[in-house]
Amino acid sequence: MSKASATGGEGGADTVGGSRIVAIGSHVPEKVLTNADLEQMVDTTDEWIVSHTGIRERHIASDGEATSDLSIAAARRALEKCDIDPQQIGLVIVATVTPDEPFPATASFVQHALGLQRCAAFDVINGCTGFIYGLALASSLIRTRQEQYVLVIAAETLSKITDWQDRSTCVLFGDGAGAAVVGPAEPGTGILAVEWSTNGSAAHLLNLPAGGSRRPITHELIDQRQHYIKMQGHEVFKLAVRGIPEISLGALHKAGLTPQDVDLLVMHQANQRIIDAAAKRFDLPPEKVAVNVDRYGNTSAASIPIALAEAEQQGRLKPGDIVLMVGFGAGFSLGAAVVEW
Ligand SMILES: CC(C)(COP(=O)(O)OP(=O)(O)OC[C@H]1O[C@@H](n2cnc3c(N)ncnc32)[C@H](O)[C@@H]1OP(=O)(O)O)[C@@H](O)C(=O)NCCC(=O)NCCS
Repeated sequence: MSKASATGGEGGADTVGGSRIVAIGSHVPEKVLTNADLEQMVDTTDEWIVSHTGIRERHIASDGEATSDLSIAAARRALEKCDIDPQQIGLVIVATVTPDEPFPATASFVQHALGLQRCAAFDVINGCTGFIYGLALASSLIRTRQEQYVLVIAAETLSKITDWQDRSTCVLFGDGAGAAVVGPAEPGTGILAVEWSTNGSAAHLLNLPAGGSRRPITHELIDQRQHYIKMQGHEVFKLAVRGIPEISLGALHKAGLTPQDVDLLVMHQANQRIIDAAAKRFDLPPEKVAVNVDRYGNTSAASIPIALAEAEQQGRLKPGDIVLMVGFGAGFSLGAAVVEW
């Protein structure tokens, strides 16, 4: 008997079936930017970056390489791993804050490129929790709308909105994409529970000020570099460390589980110190914690599915394992998902 069914599983799901991650894939651009490269660009050091964040290098999209390009590559990898007819996909969700264009949805470009017919497509703009929110939507739609399969992609080209003159942010971010095929499952298996929350009073701590309806792009705003990511890192750090335990325990509780049941913690890869704080709080040894922030930096929405795909590739996910995924970021948003692999 699985841990989840032994302890109850998701309340209420039994009446409408379950949902699960059928396959996962990822893709990152070829170009690598190291801390040594950044030392040549801004007043920083490898020592500062590693000691404050754990990041050593990140992948960066090339000129002309857009979020949909990374999305399509990650989605193809996920689709190759499962033997479903792609035409059974009823919905494509792309979680991103770096869409190809402000509109239409990047998901539309992905749908077309993958040749998916009879399929809806939209984006979720929610920063680093985007994959968890996409997963929650997919799971819910499969269980209540009888969608057959949903492609949940999280992809970012943050390098395109990074201020490469601002050392407080440019050392943090990277580009990449992860994709999950989500499909139906037996009740009480697969995606067991998702919790989410948003604290809009802290939305100003991490944003891209110019280019929306509040401040449409002007030459003046560009001169002021307002078309790049702004972050009050220290405040975001505090909110993350405070919020992660609560949202995680909420999701675990909903699934009828505790931190002792977790086989793999897949956190948003923003900062090694935040990952370490969560692992310590849940008393999880390193072998139960996925870490790749050193090689990819913070890829926002993409970081959780990239880490998940990597963990699977490394053989760290066995059927029946309990995976706790936790995201935090712009909004200020939090999200946690408990999945039985
Ligand atoms: C961004 C972050 C790494 C900064 O680390 P920190 O320990 O909070 O550092 P601070 O911002 O307090 O800055 C400390 C000092 O380092 C300096 N500094 C900032 N970036 C630097 C860099 N790249 N190289 C060298 N020095 C740097 C600052 O200017 C500051 O100097 P001062 O003390 O002389 O003013 C950290 O706050 C963080 O990870 N925040 C969370 C980010 C996050 O999780 N985002 C997730 C949502 S996407």
